[in-house]
Amino acid sequence: MSLPQNALHGILHPEVQAHLHGLVQHDDALLDRLEAYGRERGFPIVGRSSGRVLELYARAIGARRVFELGSGFGFSAWFFARAVGPEGRVYCTDRDEHERVAFRELYADHPLATRIEHHVGDALEVLATTPGEFDCIFIDVMKEDYPRTVEAALPRLRRGGLLLIDNLLWGGRAARPVDLKDPAAAAVHAKDHATAGVVEATRLLMTDPKLCAMVLPIGDGLGVALKLE
Ligand SMILES: C[S@@+](CC[C@H](N)C(=O)[O-])C[C@H]1O[C@@H](n2cnc3c(N)ncnc32)[C@H](O)[C@@H]1O
Repeated sequence: MSLPQNALHGILHPEVQAHLHGLVQHDDALLDRLEAYGRERGFPIVGRSSGRVLELYARAIGARRVFELGSGFGFSAWFFARAVGPEGRVYCTDRDEHERVAFRELYADHPLATRIEHHVGDALEVLATTPGEFDCIFIDVMKEDYPRTVEAALPRLRRGGLLLIDNLLWGGRAARPVDLKDPAAAAVHAKDHATAGVVEATRLLMTDPKLCAMVLPIGDGLGVALKLE
């Protein structure tokens, strides 16, 4: 659950967040290692409750091919890798080579590693050079890049596929009206490209007649869009 650096808190009451987190039980020590590694680094992973929702949606549509834009060391990919089954594939991307090194060390010879390809490079460039359609595409890159990432991802989804996007509430900032008559507020707003990216990406999802979409108030706000045609 990555949050803007100046967010005061998550979108949920901390007790509710802890409750949702605690509901997701599992029997794989790798998930604990991934979480601990993320905590050590202060790295913004989606969190266990959003991860479970990603897995649930991927399983619900029988996903076999999943593409992630912004994978880090493979926390969210753990959930998708479980969902796609032994014949499935999760394409991970991160522009930072260090994330692939960490991914390899953490997964080592874990059985789920055979379902994951971790690519280093710009996520949109890797998407463009990876052939075929995808059942699920998950977006978790820089928030200012969200609108163009949504536009590039949608044509690559199969009909009946799901576009999933993290941070669409952005620590609550996406829901906060800005008083543009207040010069101080307007100046901050003009420089806040991340919130603008989140708001525009949400607009794209919610106004596209070829999608059935909503933002779920879990984690930092998880966008879910089903491609209808
Ligand atoms: C929020 S983290 C991803 C967390 C991951 N989805 C998880 O929950 O485990 C975002 C990652 O995206 C990477 N990133 C940001 N913009 C990118 C881009 N345009 N191409 C590739 N990677 C990018 C960053 O290096 C960072 O590791």
